[in-house]
Amino acid sequence: MAFDKITVEEAASLINHGDTLGLSGFTAPGTPKGITEGIAAKAIKEHEAGREYKVNILTGASTNRHVDTILSENNALNFRAPYQNLPALRAHINTHDVHYNDRHLSEMAQETRYGFYGSVDYAIIEAAEVTDDGKILLGCGVGNIPTYAAMAKKIFIEINHKLPKALYGMHDVILLQDPPYRREIPIFHANDRIGTPYLQVDPAKIVGIVDTDEYDGVKAFTAVDETSTRIGNNVVSFLIGEYRAGRLPKEFLPLQSGVGNVANAVLYGLAEAKELPNFMMYTEVIQDAVLELMKRGKCTFASTCSMTFSDKTEEELFANMDFFHDKILMRPAEISNNPEVIRRIGVIAMNTALEADIFGAVNSSHVLGTKMMNGIGGSGDFTRNGYVSIFSCPSVTKGGLISNIVPMVAHVDHSEHSVDVLVTDQGIADLRGLDPVQRAERIIENCAHPDYRPLLRDYLRLGMDKTGGQTPHTLRAAFAFHNAFNETGDMRNTDFSKYC
Ligand code: COA
Repeated sequence: MAFDKITVEEAASLINHGDTLGLSGFTAPGTPKGITEGIAAKAIKEHEAGREYKVNILTGASTNRHVDTILSENNALNFRAPYQNLPALRAHINTHDVHYNDRHLSEMAQETRYGFYGSVDYAIIEAAEVTDDGKILLGCGVGNIPTYAAMAKKIFIEINHKLPKALYGMHDVILLQDPPYRREIPIFHANDRIGTPYLQVDPAKIVGIVDTDEYDGVKAFTAVDETSTRIGNNVVSFLIGEYRAGRLPKEFLPLQSGVGNVANAVLYGLAEAKELPNFMMYTEVIQDAVLELMKRGKCTFASTCSMTFSDKTEEELFANMDFFHDKILMRPAEISNNPEVIRRIGVIAMNTALEADIFGAVNSSHVLGTKMMNGIGGSGDFTRNGYVSIFSCPSVTKGGLISNIVPMVAHVDHSEHSVDVLVTDQGIADLRGLDPVQRAERIIENCAHPDYRPLLRDYLRLGMDKTGGQTPHTLRAAFAFHNAFNETGDMRNTDFSKYC
């Protein structure tokens, strides 16, 4: 091999305070697992010596404990974009110790190329193998690495010995031209291939190779609970209704599914949906449930940015590559989440909300309006451009202390102009073609928990009687649910009579 083997300490010794690193991967899969450990160890020494030492990290999406956890725990992280989901980093973001820029995932690569985040000093790439002329067989997630590798001054490769060479052919790598030279993206079906099965980098930029040997470390989901099952069944019955009514073509359309427990439950619900034809997915992550759907023949193909499988499922995949190889294609985030493609091929978007308001706006990212949870991720890419855009969440959280249907969301990620359907364990609110008050009535009656329906009706009546307007929000009362929770620990203590 043409490249030197180096240790994580040697790699870290080259990385300076203030450097910007672009990492391969999307969620934990495909994310490097070695050199950032070396950076954290270097940070400890530098801080002990009284010197500042922090780096900026650009990724595809969330990462793993070797990146976000260890770097934030050791105060080695200055800037992070575009998405995260690990508790240690989240805590540092919410105390402003890490500057976090929460971005639509489809836009991160082009914004980096446009220069919005400055230059990229190093790309760190997890790989199954690299040829002497710089062809890299990537791991189980792509993310924005084609852009970071092209822009980086220097490149480190981490060869993960757990990755089988049989991954060859499961990637579709392409780097888009920027305006005014951008052309159409010729994907007309979820399984159209437009790029190369490897990432080509300039071999002269490769500094050295680090060896790693571990699975991606994704935890298995807990068993699907009753609430999630009801949500999943409601989403499936909505899709069946659309199919029966002829609002979906007989061939069906590709599905996108978001992240988290509810998203996983929706997928398991689809596995049982005999009336729906087999389908493809055009999505950014595939979770364990998708492999199950493939085994049952229900999902015939998945275009994704990452195979976000738990270690057990990843092991199963690697042991059965013959069966799965031609059913999955991993693409860069600017392709997996591309608005042009999503709109052209008619992706059915299914994402999860933290809270939704009675007029149909959705908050996916900020707990009680202020604390960052994970970020918007790709939910905006799919919601704004999908054939039909569905959001789901439980009707209540924390044993009923919090209603996830509120008068006004305390942070807006998706406005009512993009949200077509809202689903909770209580039922389905089809919002298409409705005016704001009609939407509010439907959401309250179909989706809110019975404990909160009278309060939400009071709020709507207050707006109708006193405030007026097409969207009758009463601004001084709009956050009464959130205030009641902050003051008493229970949103049910809201009292709208004081606003009358
Ligand atoms: N107010 C306060 N806390 C809330 C809440 C609300 N309205 N709704 C949920 N929570 C809390 C839950 O109680 C839980 O807390 P815990 O960690 O202390 O148990 C936590 O938020 C997560 O809730 P859960 O129901 O387990 O969420 P999930 O795993 O289904 O994930 C999102 C839901 C919204 C956090 C997740 O889907 C997400 O990050 N979405 C944005 C990005 C995205 O959609 N990406 C995919 C696009 S392809």
